[in-house]
Order: sequence, then structure tokens, then C-alpha cells
Amino acid sequence: RRDGKGKYNDVPSSCATCSFDLIMSDRHPNIQSGSTSRPRYSAGVHNSRRPRSTTPFPEFPDLKTHEELYNFSLDYSETFWGTLARSRLTWSKDFTTVTDSSFETKTFGWFHGGELNASVNCIDRHLNERGEEPALIWEKDEPGESVFYSYRKLSETVGQIGNMLKNSGVKAGDRVTIYLSNSPTAVATMLACARIGAIHNVVFAGFSANALAARINDAQSETVITANTILRGGKLIPAKKTVDEAVTHCPCVRRVFVHFRTEVEVPMGKMDINMDKAMASEPVDCTVENRGSEDTLFMLYTSGSTGAPKGLIHSTAGYLLYANVTFKHAFDYNIGEKFGCVADIGWITGHSYVLYGPLSNGATTLLFESTPQYPDPGRYWEMVERLKLNHIYLSPTALRLLLKSGDGYVKKYNRSSLRKLGCVGEPLNHEAWEWYHKVVGEGRCDIIDTWWQTETGGICISPRPSEVGAEIIPAMPMRPMPGISLALVDNQGKETDAEKGALCIKKPWPGLARSIYGNHDRFLQTYFSNAPGLYYTGDGAHRYNNSHFQIIGRMDDVLNVSGHRLGTAEIEDVMDDHPDVSETAVIGFPHDIKGEGVYAYAVLKDERKSSKKEIEIELKSMIKTRIGGLALPEIILFTPSLPRTRSGKIMRRILRKIAANDFENLGDTSTLADPDVIKFIVDKHKELF
Ligand code: WTA
Repeated sequence: RRDGKGKYNDVPSSCATCSFDLIMSDRHPNIQSGSTSRPRYSAGVHNSRRPRSTTPFPEFPDLKTHEELYNFSLDYSETFWGTLARSRLTWSKDFTTVTDSSFETKTFGWFHGGELNASVNCIDRHLNERGEEPALIWEKDEPGESVFYSYRKLSETVGQIGNMLKNSGVKAGDRVTIYLSNSPTAVATMLACARIGAIHNVVFAGFSANALAARINDAQSETVITANTILRGGKLIPAKKTVDEAVTHCPCVRRVFVHFRTEVEVPMGKMDINMDKAMASEPVDCTVENRGSEDTLFMLYTSGSTGAPKGLIHSTAGYLLYANVTFKHAFDYNIGEKFGCVADIGWITGHSYVLYGPLSNGATTLLFESTPQYPDPGRYWEMVERLKLNHIYLSPTALRLLLKSGDGYVKKYNRSSLRKLGCVGEPLNHEAWEWYHKVVGEGRCDIIDTWWQTETGGICISPRPSEVGAEIIPAMPMRPMPGISLALVDNQGKETDAEKGALCIKKPWPGLARSIYGNHDRFLQTYFSNAPGLYYTGDGAHRYNNSHFQIIGRMDDVLNVSGHRLGTAEIEDVMDDHPDVSETAVIGFPHDIKGEGVYAYAVLKDERKSSKKEIEIELKSMIKTRIGGLALPEIILFTPSLPRTRSGKIMRRILRKIAANDFENLGDTSTLADPDVIKFIVDKHKELF
């Protein structure tokens, strides 16, 4: 992990080329404030010509540059979004108002009076022209096995599942929990919910039974859909068993549909229904339930800085429009191209850029069921060659992992089909950026580093949002998408001209989540109270040359481990339940592959039953069972106490610095209640590393 000199080699929060620490410092030394100079690594990369070009928004032919389009999108935002809504989506009833949304008054509605259905927009309207074209390419876990699904076949599957759900009593507005990994069945199930007006609630199939149960209960979901087993990286994951355990704690559940992904037999109880059999006997035509623009399309749980994960609510029209437009323009997608987003449908990236963005554009979209290293680190590139993918969209963690395995696995395969190389989820460090650009893309492809969140519905910052050939600066998402007006705010929640601050969005846009399921106050409190009148993202950012943005990372107690959000409080809650533990503090530390790793400090009770070694094993097993493997700490450091201010607040800042080996910058520790504990923790940390 370290190069022996106490410095991390390849952390996303620092520049790999110059070891500049972005979190600690005010500005990247390679970028001069107020000047137009660019970092040296970009010389001659993409940018030899300034574009003469036009923007690819056909609705606005007079707007020739990104700047023109962007300014128009903010100055005439109703015309901008209203025009796009009518031209990009198919409505069963036209809307009467574009928006009444305002962050001052905390109203969020778009396209009132309109009615539409997301499944019609993703399937039916393409059937005449593209019925026999591939909608889905299912890249199965088994290497080399892929299945093409035409729009027609997808339509039929969605129809059968929709009828099956309706016949079993699922109604519009009901929440349907989906615990499946990427497959045509999973995508068709999501679209079938949309077709009948049910709200899908996909839970990532890596979450444990407890985490699943909490989400089912919070959503008051009567229906759960799972598979007998899931296959991932050659391993069988007993999904049905996890669901069985979960539903014993969920009195609201009335039926569990089981899809048979493998031959493995599983016990079927009273509530269980063999989904493959049930849908096979249903007709392929399923009546469409038209939805009001603001009706909920889906909910998706994500971690916050405090409390239990929150079920974010996304609207039908606004979300779909935003996923549609951002997919088309961030990636400059052309019809007929194959788009390969390798995210799981359990995350927002899977919702917006595996399913809704691509399918609403009539695209061919990949469903990747496997892992980047199965059977070897050449998996992505072998797949690119075999399927002739034109776009790939992945996570920085996967890139860093593959980079470590060397160039051989990449160069072995023909990647000439690739045009755009996207990534999302965490800061993309320079080393990974360069490798992606030079080795994977042979210097030919644009790197599309996209910043967004579960809450934002779709991409908000990306290098080429609307201008063909615009300059791309390495390792930053750069430009706000049309309609997205960014601001940085200071510690007082006031907008600032400074180059560094908390990233906020000033103007409403249609893709923003509308609420937290069952807790609208928490929604307002989390996103609209820190900087009144603005949407508060929770991320810190740098602004360069007054226009280009680079994301530093979370400013709150949310961890980003391999691009997956975890609340420190969620992990602390689990650890605190151990009978021998008196208190804990969980923080993130720079991890060369995962971006951030989980680092836990634990104080044990004086009288305890187990040894430290046993407690460590028990704590890890509790975290695995109650949350899932992705939340496992890399390190658990036992300490006699935690550093606290005299008023009793845990000094997380100091714990973070120690975990990052940044011992020189601990600041003034003399005001702590017990300054000696710092020395203890530092010594222990050095021992553990
Ligand atoms: C982080 C994922 C840096 C950020 C779509 C954000 C990024 C959180 C980037 C949202 C990026 C996402 N550069 N950081 N390009 N993209 N993030 O909700 O901290 O799972 O707040 O949505 O990921 O994670 P979420």
C-alpha cells in the first residue's frame, strides 16, 4: 500500500504524477488560477484543435457552442426542458406546465398535467423501427457466453412479467423489491413494474439478509423478486436463502417470485412462486398504466452521513428525461452503437445508464453479470473485442485494479471498436486516467469522467456535455451539463468565488430525486438546509479557470468504498452492538485500489468475555451479516479511548490523518481531553501497517 516512504502511491485524492494532495491543498499546482494554462499532462492529448463544431442538440440548431447552449439552458430553462421533454419523450397526455420547482420554496415538480409510461418510452416506441435490433446484450458470468435480446423479445418478456405481477395482486403504487443481479429477467422486471405503475426497489444483491430486510420493511414492500442463486465471478451466491432469512423479519411480504438462474434446487415455501413458470403462461401484451409525470418511477436506497440508508424517490417524467438526455450527450451516443456500462442494476448507475438512459434512446445496452477479473483481468477487453463495444463505462476502482495487472491483458485484445471511455463513482486519479487514455484507448478515445449521485438522477458534470471536440483536461469531470448551474459554498453555507468549497447546484433540474420515502423532512434537511436555496451535494470541489470542476470527495461522514456509498454511522451502529465494545469511530482512509477503505477504531469494555483477536473476528462477521461484505473494515484498531474535544466531540479529523499516515499535520492536539491517546493510536497504527 505504501512506497516505504510513508506516502501512498496511487490514491485518488492525490495526483499520481506529482503527489500533490488535493484534499490538503488549495489548488493543483499544475493549474494556474485565472489563466488558461492546462496541466502539463494534457499537452497534445485531445486538444490540438478547438472545435468549430455545432452542439449535437437538434432542437436548438442556432446554438453552436456549449457555452451558447449552456447559457440558454439556464436563461430559458423552461423552454429548454419543455422542448426536450416534448421531443425526446413520448407522452400519452401532454403536460401543461414545465415546472413549478424552486429551491427557495422547496418545491420540486416538473411537467405537471402530463402522463406517460417509462416502459413505453423504453420499448414500445422503438418496436416499429428497431424491433429486431438488440436492446440487451447479456454478458453472462460464464466467460464468452452472451445472449442478445431484441427489443421485441424484451417487450414480450416485460409483458409477461407485467401480467404475472398484476395477476398476483401487484397494483400501481405498490413497492416491489428486486434482489437480482444483471440479467434480461432483472431488467424486464424493472420495466414490468414501470409498465403497471408499480415502484421498483432494487436492492444490490451483495447486501446481507438484515440489510435487505431493513429496506423491504422501510419500503413496506409486499412483493420480492429474486433468483434461486446468483452467479458472480464463478461463484454461486445463495440469493434465495438470503431472501428467506430476510423475509422472516418482514411481516409486510406476501409473495416471493423466484427466477431460476441456475439448476440449483432451493426449498420453496408457501409464499414462494416459481417466476419462470408463472410468467410463461401469461400473454405477452400487457396493458399500460399511464403515470402522471410526478408519480414515482422507482426508489433506491443509498447511505447518508447519519441514520439508516434512505430510500430516494425518483419521478417518472423528470428522471426519465434527464437519464435520456444525459446518456445521449455525455457519451455522444449514436444509434446502432453498443454501450457497455458494467455497473450492477443495484446502483443508480445501473438504473440510469444500463437501463433507462440507453433504452429510452433505442440503444443496445450491455448487462454485465460478472466481475472485472473473472476469469482473468482481461475480461473487459476480451468482451470489448468479442462484442465490438463502442463505449465502456466503469468505475475507477476497476481501472486501478486492472492497471495493476499490467498492460498485457489489455493489449492482447482488439479494442478498435471503442470510441468513448467513461467512468463514474469516485475521483479518477491521474495515473488511472493516463492508463485508461493511453493503454486502453490507445490515445484515440475520449475519457468521459462523469460526476453525479443517486440523488441527481443522471450525470451533472462531464467533459463534453454538448460540444463535439471540446477540450478534455485529465482527471476531472470538468463541465456542468446543460441545465446544471453549479456553485461552491463556504463553511457558512454562502456561495463563494473561492476555488474550493462545498459543491451545490443552484437551479432545479428535472432529474433530481423528489423525496426520501416516508421522510420528506429528512430530504429537505439533508439537501436543502446547509446552503439555503441550493441543492447541497455533500461533495467538496475545486473550480479551475472559473469553469472547470474537479471533485475532491465527500465532505461528510459518507465513505466511498470502491464507488459504493457507506455511512460511517451504519458501521458504527453494528460494531457498538458487540457486548465487549464500548464505543467506536469509523472513518475512511486512502486505499490504492478501492479509493477509500474502511478504518475502524474501537474502545473495548474493561470487563470482557473474548480476546481482542476473537472480538475482531466477531465484529467482522457482524458487519458482514448486518450490512454486507462491502462494508468490512480493512483495519480495526483497538484503543483505550478516542480523541475528543473537551466538549466531548470525537476528533474524526485527527483519526483520518493518522489513518492516512499524515502524522505531521495533526494540528493542535493540546486542547484534547486526553492528548496521550494520540500517541497510543499513532504507535498502534504504525504497528498494524
Ligand atoms: C462520488 C454514483 C469524483 C461523489 C453515480 C458522489 C465521484 C458519490 C464521481 C455519489 C466522479 C461520483 N468523481 N467523485 N466522477 N462520481 N462520485 O450516489 O462523492 O453511488 O457524491 O452515485 O460518488 O455516489 P452514488
